[in-house]
Amino acid sequence: MQPQPCTLRTFHLLVLVICISASEDFDWTRSERSAFHYGTFPTGFSWGAGSSAYQTEGAWNVDGKGVSIWDSFSHKKGKIHANDTGDTSCDGYYKFKDDVALMKDMKLNHYRFSISWPRILPTGRKSEHINERGIKYYDNLINMLLENKITPIVTLYHWDLPQVLQEKHGGWQNVSMVNYFNDFANLCFERFGNRVKYWITFNNPWSVAVEGYETGEHAPGLRLKGSGAYRTAHHIIKAHAKVWHTYDTQWRSKQKGLVGISLTADWGEPVDVSNQRDIEAAERYIQFYLGWFATPLFSGDYPQVMKDYIGRKSGQQGLGASRLPVFSPQEKSYIKGTCDFLGLGHFTTRYVTMKNYPAGLGDSYFTDRDLAELVDPQWPDPGSEWLYSVPWGFRRLLNFVKSQYGNPMIYVTENGVSEKMLCTDLCDDWRMKYYKDYINEMLKAVKDGVNVKGYTAWSLLDNFEWDEGFSERFGLFYVDFRNKNKPRYPKASVQFYKRLISSNGFPNQREVDIWKRKAVETCSSSNQLLAADPLIGHMEMVTEIVVPTVCTLCILLSAVFLMFLLRGRL
Ligand code: NOJ
Repeated sequence: MQPQPCTLRTFHLLVLVICISASEDFDWTRSERSAFHYGTFPTGFSWGAGSSAYQTEGAWNVDGKGVSIWDSFSHKKGKIHANDTGDTSCDGYYKFKDDVALMKDMKLNHYRFSISWPRILPTGRKSEHINERGIKYYDNLINMLLENKITPIVTLYHWDLPQVLQEKHGGWQNVSMVNYFNDFANLCFERFGNRVKYWITFNNPWSVAVEGYETGEHAPGLRLKGSGAYRTAHHIIKAHAKVWHTYDTQWRSKQKGLVGISLTADWGEPVDVSNQRDIEAAERYIQFYLGWFATPLFSGDYPQVMKDYIGRKSGQQGLGASRLPVFSPQEKSYIKGTCDFLGLGHFTTRYVTMKNYPAGLGDSYFTDRDLAELVDPQWPDPGSEWLYSVPWGFRRLLNFVKSQYGNPMIYVTENGVSEKMLCTDLCDDWRMKYYKDYINEMLKAVKDGVNVKGYTAWSLLDNFEWDEGFSERFGLFYVDFRNKNKPRYPKASVQFYKRLISSNGFPNQREVDIWKRKAVETCSSSNQLLAADPLIGHMEMVTEIVVPTVCTLCILLSAVFLMFLLRGRL
């Protein structure tokens, strides 16, 4: 039977309405991936590099620091690649002066680092004990940065919860974390807020929720499928809002700083941009990733699609209520608008298509989304298994943020690429390419009108890459973890990034090509130094252990010999 003209008209209208409402937000069907764009960033654009406490500081049990969930987790056998731990890591706790010198040389405008909660509150609770030696360390670091005209951007929670709070209360499964975290944040505002003007409450809460409480790959290693991640996220969102309000009411007028959050998200591109089901699947991918946290903070509640999908699946499972917790009306208005800026971490992209997972068969965060992720085998994949280089996804994600959340102020808080453990080649041309292309997409996004104010390369140094231990290196600087002095060696990308910073973008093709050539030239001498490192390490062993031992033995032998000689004479 042919459709009636009137039915056809209604159908067309419906398609048009769907298209119009979609284009108001973001045009999922736009597919142009234009060529390289030469040009510069707005004056005052801030360039930086990042790190986090557990990944770089080491000194895990020094100067009164308490144990964190990552200390405990990494000390359990079989949790981390090669049973690596962050016990000493880059020894950043001792070498921060050297590291600030590296930043100064690169002319970084900002440095993003995190404060270890148990380093300043060993049991997690302010009322129990404040560790002044921990405070001193961060005081020194902040002062040193400011002396060198580097703005500190400080994260309060980069995953290292005090172990005591995990053991006594179940960590983020328990709503009591909201007040403990608020007390910790308040202490940081009190002690450091006269100098720190950019605060990030949480780093990548998606990972805390999903990998910490759903899959268990990260500390605290819980596998609470289908509920753990949602409950964790719920408490983190509440904790973020509370800390924002604390700053707003008690500190903002004096300190004049900003409080944001750092959310990490991949871009999700529909496999077939003309297929509505793929378009919707890609939308779900982003909403379950970024929207899960961003929508409450900008609009007061979870994305409708999450409420619909998780609610329906929970019903099909025979549960009386949705596994996705609910915010009360008061909570919604308390949470809405608690983001002075959005920190955005981004590394890679996926193609997304619809895939139905019937409820009741191992329900989880992943099956709740009803989608499948795909990758293009042609995408470069130099390091971490999950990290494909897809620069155009970055521009799309940035535009998505602009259209969904009212063009907020954005600081890119993480972007970068890794290489595998065995790669001791400091001439990292694939990293230069990654940075060049991703930063160029960010430049295009700025031209699109996205309000990006700064960019943070991840990471300053090679460091402890969570469950992958030291096997994946994201650093601009190579760290020789075999050497107890943990020397840093610049990779070629240091030179490249340095030139990009001093030009505030990409002036013209000729110049940008020269940067790459020059960077490769200088890195070959660093390569030679690194190659000589085992030899130097060996020589250090000779001077530090062998020489003193031989000397002591000689002295002892001479003493004995002298005694015998004297006895013979008497
Ligand atoms: C995001 C995390 O915040 C950071 O700690 C990690 O090193 C990077 N992703 C790379 O995996």
